[in-house]
Amino acid sequence: MREYHPHRPSLPGRLLLLLPFAKKYHARHHRKTLSVIHNTVPLPSALCELDGLKAVYCSDIHYGLFLDLQRLHELVEQINSLKPDLIILGGDYGEDGPTSLTALTHLKALTAPLGVYGCAGNHDRADISEEELYRALSDNGIKPLINSSTVLHIRDKKLGLCAVDDVICGTPDYAAAFSSCLEADGIIFLPHSPDALPDAFRYSEKPPFFLALCGHTHGGQINPFGLHIRTGSHLSRSFGLRHLAGQFNENGTECIISRGVGYTGLPLRLHAKPELHLITFQQSEANR
Ligand SMILES: [Fe+2]
Repeated sequence: MREYHPHRPSLPGRLLLLLPFAKKYHARHHRKTLSVIHNTVPLPSALCELDGLKAVYCSDIHYGLFLDLQRLHELVEQINSLKPDLIILGGDYGEDGPTSLTALTHLKALTAPLGVYGCAGNHDRADISEEELYRALSDNGIKPLINSSTVLHIRDKKLGLCAVDDVICGTPDYAAAFSSCLEADGIIFLPHSPDALPDAFRYSEKPPFFLALCGHTHGGQINPFGLHIRTGSHLSRSFGLRHLAGQFNENGTECIISRGVGYTGLPLRLHAKPELHLITFQQSEANR
């Protein structure tokens, strides 16, 4: 385990929430601003039978002082009410290892017919081992994807899901993640940080995945007047300001970087509203 000190709630952030009614107002504001982003992703021709499949992607919940138990329960209800076929969690479940373990016991209530899947974020891996996190995910009904993969059999097709360990606090192993699902008709790669993408793109001549789902950046989290303050804590080393968040195509592969749900450092988001994603997979025009 690498030594890493995550951005836990800062002293100004803690003091802010001590103001009268601040916690209540903060929760209400979060409830009002959390958006469900509807993304459409084209399917590779080998998976065109999966047209209409729906997945929720939810990253960076950061359960703890700035996102309390009531909001976590409401979030679970909101995700379940979207009735996705599968749910993908992008890591950073809590502020640090211990709060992540607690968050996972509540995320157990997430439900989808094709299952719930989760990777490891830097905050989750800050003070706990890969094995502890793996066990906590499994014990709470979430299939752990940490340097590993799984293959879903849907409508006679094989959809692979895989992720590496976190690039900051863990030990990513791309061969372990990809080699075990190469039999799939198409793969979704879901590392916590977009900084895993350059090595993943280099893994083989053609990227082995058709979709990458990442969080970690919080969309910059605090962008006064739409300008990101370069603190480095929310910037991806690989994409910087080029892709703080959003859906784009890189190397012929569809990528989504989510602003995520919660907060780090300060209970504040400016020009980076919290979000989760309802992704609809669509047969591409060429295959219709
Ligand atoms: Fe995060």
